[in-house]
Amino acid sequence: MDEDVVNEFGPTKQHLVRPATQADLPQIAHIARLTWDATYNKTIAPENRQEFLARAYKPENLADGIDRLGHWFFVGEVGKDVVGFGHFLRRYHPNRPRAELVRLYVLPGYQSMGIGTLILKTGFTALAEAGIEQCFVSVQATNTAARKFYERHGFSFHRNHGQFLGTQIITLAEYVRAMDGVEATR
Ligand SMILES: CC(C)(COP(=O)(O)OP(=O)(O)OC[C@H]1O[C@@H](n2cnc3c(N)ncnc32)[C@H](O)[C@@H]1OP(=O)(O)O)[C@@H](O)C(=O)NCCC(=O)NCCS
Repeated sequence: MDEDVVNEFGPTKQHLVRPATQADLPQIAHIARLTWDATYNKTIAPENRQEFLARAYKPENLADGIDRLGHWFFVGEVGKDVVGFGHFLRRYHPNRPRAELVRLYVLPGYQSMGIGTLILKTGFTALAEAGIEQCFVSVQATNTAARKFYERHGFSFHRNHGQFLGTQIITLAEYVRAMDGVEATR
């Protein structure tokens, strides 16, 4: 599975997406640390980044999302290396089954290779199979690259909202995407 393949973007190691396991958690935390530092170095104070990552990405805190009803947690691999992850979770609504993509990160050196798209599409299929009708995602309003990425994948801007992150208030842009037209494989 990890032999080199050639695609329209040139020779590259083949990548795939699979459900995350407990054994992936230290690597997921490592990816989060590197990718957060690269993505948010100008917008989130270092102490706020560190405090958030130490809490949210502690393996025992992440473990709740693995193999659990209402969670869909995937990793992207290049060869045998885990280089990205995406975590969707169900959000309660009385009559519209909905979910949120709560994290999607690909290591800086592996971005723009299609891994984020593959994680997103794998997640959409899983949500459609579970009968989810809408998927939400919140992205830092200043993160234009990620906003474009979601817009190209069918998300529509819904609203801006604020969130405390340590000593800061972060403005987030919330997007929503209907799961109509996503093929469930079962
Ligand atoms: C946003 C993010 C998750 C997207 O993942 P990715 O793997 O880089 O995304 P993809 O490669 O699938 O797509 C990215 C771009 O590469 C292009 N692309 C797709 N397949 C490609 C390939 N095989 N080779 C080169 N480029 C490709 C696409 O046109 C796409 O362009 P777009 O962003 O303008 O839509 C990732 O870049 C990331 O982790 N960014 C930093 C953290 C972040 O902002 N996360 C979101 C927080 S909400």
